[in-house]
Amino acid sequence: MSSTGNPDYRDAGLEFPAGFVFGSATAAYQVEGAAHEGGRGASIWDTFSRVPGAVVNGDTGDIADDHYHRLEEDLDLMAELGLQSYRFSISWPRIQPTGRGAANAEGIDFYSRLIDGLISRGITPTVTLYHWDLPQALEDEGGWTNRDTATAFAEYARIVGHAFGDRVAMWTTLNEPWCAAYLGYGSGVHAPGRQDPVAALRAVHHLNLAHGLALTALRETVTNSPEFSVTLNVHALRPSGPTGPEAVRRLDALGNRAFTGPMLNGEYPADLLEDTAAITDWAFVLPGDLAAIHQPIDLLGVNYYSTSLVRMPEDTDAAYDRAGATWPGSEHVEQVPQAGPFTAMGWNIEPSGLQELLELLAERHPGLPMMITENGAAFDDVPDDDGQIHDDARTDYLRRHITAVHRAMDAGVDLRGYFVWSLLDNFEWALGYTKRFGIVYVDYNTLERTPKDSARWFAELCRTKRLPD
Ligand code: FCB
Repeated sequence: MSSTGNPDYRDAGLEFPAGFVFGSATAAYQVEGAAHEGGRGASIWDTFSRVPGAVVNGDTGDIADDHYHRLEEDLDLMAELGLQSYRFSISWPRIQPTGRGAANAEGIDFYSRLIDGLISRGITPTVTLYHWDLPQALEDEGGWTNRDTATAFAEYARIVGHAFGDRVAMWTTLNEPWCAAYLGYGSGVHAPGRQDPVAALRAVHHLNLAHGLALTALRETVTNSPEFSVTLNVHALRPSGPTGPEAVRRLDALGNRAFTGPMLNGEYPADLLEDTAAITDWAFVLPGDLAAIHQPIDLLGVNYYSTSLVRMPEDTDAAYDRAGATWPGSEHVEQVPQAGPFTAMGWNIEPSGLQELLELLAERHPGLPMMITENGAAFDDVPDDDGQIHDDARTDYLRRHITAVHRAMDAGVDLRGYFVWSLLDNFEWALGYTKRFGIVYVDYNTLERTPKDSARWFAELCRTKRLPD
């Protein structure tokens, strides 16, 4: 399958099937705040955001959107927008302050109220177990480089499975383990800020293991019949010039197949092991691990923002600096600057990349339904004199990407839903509060929420299942 067709992706009037889910997504550390309340323990982002220079402006998630205290207001907002589902993550250190031991009742109570509040408003909870806020106490023991973190994660999954496993319709184990492993332990731009290629690859494996063990723990504890999934930021890679295909192969191995391989096929790709052989022999993959990771899932969650254009360097024999590499073993692959337009993140806007990616995944994993668990854009939103936010660029971005989703479905891809990132402007990791992704504007002085024009547009889509004009 290949994507062709109208390159502008500015359709209107497209109809989506009645069962197709439109929702929006957030993550605990990015919105909750109340970082030192309700018995919550410290996470690696509490620690990392206090490292001088790690986060723009020294911003932290201490207050964030104060969603923890504004739960009812935010639930009402979701209902007003007509979201069919809300994708949120559970903060592990709110449930187990040190990552081990008994559940913190206040943490259970908070998520229980959130889940009940959603259900009573007719909104389906889509729950992610891990969106990067590892309990600091586990990082002190090696974090994701330590195999015990994967077994601790399974215990945490068991606790939340017991607590909420009668009400949650969709469970997602991990959000973007690529970021957790390579940005957390390779480049160090995310918490815990380590720069060690071996650590990054160990983290890849232990996150994969955590995914498999958590699925088993959830299946043993839930009492309803939910769906199970994982969310990956599958990289949409495009080749530049004659060496492009080799560069694509390498980053696809490290960035995509390092996760889909063990999770969906029960093995690490041979070329991945070869590309990284100078770094590690992968002896941390123990007998039985691959079987533990290779558990059935009902859906693959895909996060998509933009494409990468890549090629190999002219001198492939040169010595490359491995310390701080985002792509250990393929640190020399070159990212070629792309044509715009760009979002405020500097990411190129390329809806055809989403269609291409979905078609590629459908070809690689036949019979596995998919869901867009994140897609959206940051722009420098400024309220008008009337206090309203006329974010036409965001609406245009959403329209084009939702058009791409529809075209992929027309081409035969089994897609079940689309979640816009994000419901609210929030703490954008190392970029702090400088990047606004919300369809709802948050005034960080007053914490007042104002739906942007894009929110109204999206609400109409949720209501009609038809791409608005
Ligand atoms: C994704 C993350 C999400 C958000 C968006 C912009 O990588 O999952 O938390 O930061 O990017």
